[in-house]
Parts: sequence; structure tokens; C-alpha cells
Amino acid sequence: MTRDLIARTEPAALVGATFGHDWWQNGIVYQIYPRSFADSDGDGVGDLPGITSRLDYLRDLGIDALWLSPIYPSPGLDVGYDVSDHTTVDVVFGGDAAFDTFVDEAHKRGLRVVLDLVMNHTSDQHAWFQASRMSRDNPFSDWYLWMDPRGFDEQGAPIPPNNWLSWFGGSAWQWDEPRKQFYMHTFLVQQPELNWRNPKVEEAQFKMVRGWLDRGVDGFRLDVFNAFLKHPELLANPEIEGATLWARQQHLYDRDQPDFPELIGRFRSIVDEMPGRMSVGELFASEAERAVALTTERHMVFDWALLQAPWSSEAYADAIWLREKMFGSDRWLANVLSNHDQSRHVSRFAAALGIDDDARRDRLAKAAAVLLLTLRGTAFLYYGEEIGLPNVAVPDDEIIDPPARRASLFFPWWNRDQCRSPMPWTSDPNGGFTTGRPWLRMRADVDSRNVAAQIGRPGSVFEAYRALLELRRDSPALHGGDFRRLAVDERDVLAYVRRSGDDRALVAINFSTGARRFPLPPGAWRWRYDTVRGAIDGPVRSESLELAGLRAVILAADGSPAEG
Ligand code: GLC
Repeated sequence: MTRDLIARTEPAALVGATFGHDWWQNGIVYQIYPRSFADSDGDGVGDLPGITSRLDYLRDLGIDALWLSPIYPSPGLDVGYDVSDHTTVDVVFGGDAAFDTFVDEAHKRGLRVVLDLVMNHTSDQHAWFQASRMSRDNPFSDWYLWMDPRGFDEQGAPIPPNNWLSWFGGSAWQWDEPRKQFYMHTFLVQQPELNWRNPKVEEAQFKMVRGWLDRGVDGFRLDVFNAFLKHPELLANPEIEGATLWARQQHLYDRDQPDFPELIGRFRSIVDEMPGRMSVGELFASEAERAVALTTERHMVFDWALLQAPWSSEAYADAIWLREKMFGSDRWLANVLSNHDQSRHVSRFAAALGIDDDARRDRLAKAAAVLLLTLRGTAFLYYGEEIGLPNVAVPDDEIIDPPARRASLFFPWWNRDQCRSPMPWTSDPNGGFTTGRPWLRMRADVDSRNVAAQIGRPGSVFEAYRALLELRRDSPALHGGDFRRLAVDERDVLAYVRRSGDDRALVAINFSTGARRFPLPPGAWRWRYDTVRGAIDGPVRSESLELAGLRAVILAADGSPAEG
């Protein structure tokens, strides 16, 4: 329904008017890791012309917006999250002209474009840092967090100013000889932290944001946004008991500062200068409570309760209940099961269930899709999940992810390369991703698990996503309705009702690999979707459903059921 409307809409009309301010509340955002999506020039690295060439595929899948992981110039040490210029597009991805073409072509298809803004830190190659490290009295000298040493040890080595740690291991402080001071970095040594308490930094960042809005960008994902502000005096964190070095500190002063909501409010007012723009913040190393505190009517936050829940009906019931209760009905939720930092959910859940065959893995992928696409909130998909793409095993001598290269007993780290492998499009060599050598290895089964093999094949994971996205778009209950969990006696079954006006959708998911019985609430129900039979219609004739292992169903109220 909405899709037809979008397809007929001219690009100019895409801004605001047709969809109102809240397109992102009803929409689906699809995350692309640009290096891994589609390579147009054979250098083995995905690029913007490659993504542009796949826009029809994305439109037909039924998503509403694309979020691109960073596309800016970067030395690539944190594979793009170490940005050396936020205002332009790296030539490796095709440069600025390719970006503008991509935005135009996306808009022509009714697809929005969301950029990843890395504003907590820059690359040490960024011109601001290059200037900042030159001296203590140049125009950029206080654009980063510089501190004198706390003293010198017996060998004369400078002692870091406080106990802050890097998330990527080791101290957060790096000695810099030119200035004879330490600078702070939450991530790599080559990712110095910006000083957001300097108004000039905020001004420069917001100017950059306006630049992207002027180029037609429809929204932003903010990288580790709750870390932007530190305590003004950079106080040491209190030390506590904990399993890892990071957990042995209470992170009171290196993130989540009380005046941060005002900063994010100022950012949001820049975004609101243009109608219909979306923003979502990535919560860094904090609990769901923080996500709630930082969510506003106009701004979403990724909390990690859904992504970190193990595959069980109890764990998901708890996570959903917790989020429903904490966020309430006036804060919009950002729902996600996979991203570029975490194990792909199909692999994560399959490992927990002890499954390693394709048939059951696909059933699992479809059941998880039913869950993700029927919860209240905006759903975020991660490229490849629509074909049930599992992680790729990367041998130690091929590891790219920098913290994974320094992982140890004291610094455990999951190699993020495993969830970033290139998209298999066809059964051609390298899955049709590139004519060259892929920058990161691909799975050995590209010839069987690829997009072409799944499009139009009944029962494929791709067709499940397509059907579910269509159903969600056409059902006010599913994309905007409230949420009520149903009490179910049967173990391993999670069931809930979404409701908007007269429209009601009932969802039941069997999390186990064994068969379970689900007694229906009273009333008349119609079939809408079944992971076994696909999109279907027709009355439900029994009072209970036999749910085979990992089967999930969606029913709609037929008339006005007593329950729901
Ligand atoms: C965010 C990104 C991650 C990156 C880190 C540092 O957490 O998602 O990929 O390594 O920020 O920029």
C-alpha cells in the first residue's frame, strides 16, 4: 500500500510532506556495510556505484531507508570508523559524485539515506588533530582531550593523567612527544577523542551535519554518542570488583555525563531544520536505562537488550517486557538483532541450539525475522540477514579487526570480521560480489547461499523477509500498534498481540526445535503468515495450533475477537 505510494512519488516530494515527520517510526532501516555490499570496479572493495546498482533489489525487498556504515576518507585502521574528513566521501567508495548519484537514485525509488556519523573521535590523520598536536597554543590545540602527565616513573616515563581505559584494550591515554602531553582515546590510539566541551568543536560538527542535510541525507546514526562528553575535570573513575579490566571501573566520568541530553537536544534541533529527518544514537557500553533517558520524541537510541538476549522464549519475553515497561508508549524503540559489531544472530542462536544444518538454520532465521518484524518500534536489518547469512570463519592470520588482533586472556574480543563478509549475490565466483579478490574472505557456501538462489524460491529466507515486510507495511497493528503479551502455559512459546484500532495481529513463536502446542485466545482468527507455508489467508479452524520446531505464525483478528 504505502510502497505503491512511495514508488509513484517524485524525489522532491520525498522530503517531509508525503510521509510526515515520522516515516522512520513506520519504516524499516537496512544497514549496509559499504565495503561488503557490491563492488563495481573489481578492486575487491564494495562501493557506492555497487550499492546504487542494487537499489532495485532493496526496493523490492520492501525496506524504507538505508544506513551506510562510514563512507568518509579513512586510513582504515578501524575499518572506516577512524575518519580523516567527515565532510566528503572516500574515493574508494566512488567519491562525492558517486554519493550524490546514489542519493538521487535511492530517492527515486522511495528509499531514504541515513549516514553513520562518527563524531566522538577522529582519525589521527584528520587535519584537526594534525594541527592540535603541533603545539599547546594553536587554534586547534584544545579540540582534543589533552592532559599533562600525573608525574614520571622511576625510568622517567610519563604517567597517564588518570585510570581511564580504552574499550579496545589498554590505557585510554597516549603520550604524544610533539606536545609532551597525553591525549585521550576510547578506541584505537589512532582515534583521538574530540573535546566536545569546546564550543568550536560543536560548531564545526554541526556545520558538517548541515552539509549532509543539504546534500539530501535523510537521517543519521550517531556512533558511540553517549561518550561525547566527559567530566569537565576528567576525574578518575572509581575502581570496583569486576571480571574484566573494563568492568573493574565504574564509568562515571568517561561517558554519560548529566549535561549530555542538552547536547543531543541541540544536535536534534539542527536535524529538525529540515522536516522528516531521522536520528538514532548508538549506546556505548551502558544499560537500557541510559537508552531510555536519552530517547526523546524525535530521537531513537539503540539499547542492547534484544541483541544480547539468548535465544529462548523466557529471555525474549523478559527483554521485551523490560523494554516495553522502561520505554513506555511515548518513546520509540529501535529494534535490532545483528550489526557490524556482533555475531550475526542466525549464527549466535544456532550455536546456542546446537544447530549446524542449513534447513534448521533457515527455520531459525525465519522465526527470528517474525520476532524482529512484529515488535513495537523501528526494525533495523543488517545486510545479508534477509538470506540467513551466517558468520564467516576467519583464520587468525587473516584477522583485520584491530582489537581482535590484540585479543588475549585478559582482553577477550570477538573478531568482528566474521559478521562483515561480502554479500553473496549469485553462484558466480566470489558470489558475484566482485570480479577481483574480496577484501575479506567469503563463506565457502556462496554458490548455494546467495541472493539469486533465494529470490522467488518458496520457503527461502529472502521470501520470508519480503512477505513479512509487506505484511508489516499493510498492517497498522504491526507497524504502529500497541503491544500485549499473552500468557502461555506451553514452554518455549512466546505469544503477543499487536493492536491498532480494529486491526489486531497475534504472533506466536516456538523457540524450541521440538513441537509445541499453542491454544488460541477466544475469537475468530485468520491466517496471515506462517514460517512453514509463507504468506497465507483463510480462517483458522482449530482452537489450538501445533507449532513444529522453530515455527512462527502471525494471525489477524477476524471480526472482533473477545480476546486481544
Ligand atoms: C562503534 C562502531 C564500531 C567502532 C567503534 C569506534 O561502536 O559501531 O564499529 O569500532 O564505534 O568507532
